[in-house]
Amino acid sequence: MDRLRAALARWGDRLLFRLFTAGELARARPGQARPQRLAARFAAKEAVMKSLGVGWRGVGWQTIEIRTDPQGKPTVVLHGSARRVADDLGIAEVLVSLTHSGALAVASAVALRR
Ligand SMILES: CC(C)(COP(=O)(O)OP(=O)(O)OC[C@H]1O[C@@H](n2cnc3c(N)ncnc32)[C@H](O)[C@@H]1OP(=O)(O)O)[C@@H](O)C(=O)NCCC(=O)NCCS
Repeated sequence: MDRLRAALARWGDRLLFRLFTAGELARARPGQARPQRLAARFAAKEAVMKSLGVGWRGVGWQTIEIRTDPQGKPTVVLHGSARRVADDLGIAEVLVSLTHSGALAVASAVALRR
């Protein structure tokens, strides 16, 4: 989380809008565990990239969207290049789990083949 905080202090909103979708930012409003929620979503995007076997040079940050369902459960929606990589690998769905507490945010992802 410290890395993300430092990057945001340096690059500000430009970085936020490059990394996160409007929906992700809406789940992390100021005063609602914002740094933790953003760090968890950043970690989730990285975990999804790894589950697809690519890094951030392979797919863009915005092509992996972490949505939140009405129960609070995070779901993954792939767009553009990330969707294409998943299709090529026969991946139908990617599951994620997030946790954050204090200065720590962790995410894991599992890609499921058809
Ligand atoms: C959901 C729960 C396991 C989260 O654990 P926690 O110790 O409070 O918090 P953690 O940091 O470990 O996890 C937080 C993340 O859990 C995830 N989460 C929340 N609800 C979830 C659910 N129903 N299913 C799967 N993941 C969920 C979210 O990604 C959340 O991150 P976010 O707030 O940034 O979106 C816990 O709050 C719980 O069991 N609550 C009781 C059930 C409940 O309140 N359900 C919601 C309404 S039906």
